Amino acid sequence: MKKIVLFASGTGTNAENIIVHFNKKNIGTVAAVFCNNPNAKVLDKAKKWNVPTVVFSKEEFSTDKVLQKLNSFQPDLIVLAGFLLKFPQNIIQTYPNKIINIHPALLPKYGGKGMYGMHVHRAIIENKETETGISIHFVNEHYDEGNVIFQKTVTLAGNETPEEIAEKVHQLEHQHFPEVIEKLITHNS
Ligand code: GAR
Repeated sequence: MKKIVLFASGTGTNAENIIVHFNKKNIGTVAAVFCNNPNAKVLDKAKKWNVPTVVFSKEEFSTDKVLQKLNSFQPDLIVLAGFLLKFPQNIIQTYPNKIINIHPALLPKYGGKGMYGMHVHRAIIENKETETGISIHFVNEHYDEGNVIFQKTVTLAGNETPEEIAEKVHQLEHQHFPEVIEKLITHNS
């Protein structure tokens, strides 16, 4: 059974969707949810499904304390599901090609520092884009710049609110993210 460790900062609809998906399979399991925000709703969701949680501060993140805690779960894949801090070098170097992120736009457009969540969807509207989508990519030392593994597009009518775009993007994420994770852990076995 492959071990997946999730990193999330907020609501955690993706995290919960991944936990539920792998609860039904015998190829992988979510071993832990790491979170930088003690008030994040994702923590309640993880507890509801009896998944261990680890909470750390922004300052602790780049120290060996978090790395050692992560190592203790022996992850086969580390998955950023709505995680908003930049990943530190010590973790990236310990887990080459084993860390992936989901981004709510079609990279390389709308990536980089400050481009997350609703900021992305508002920029899409400002620029009158006719489509948006999701990107799943490997994590390297630069925000949103690692190799893209998977993308899916959704067409926009042009009159959506940022919340409506977020909803369309979430639907794509919930539909495809678990499958992509499943392929990666199966492929690497
Ligand atoms: C998701 O749409 C994810 O793509 C985005 O945050 C949302 C989290 O939703 N991630 C980023 O913007 C990272 N740059 P969730 O907490 O409901 O899963």
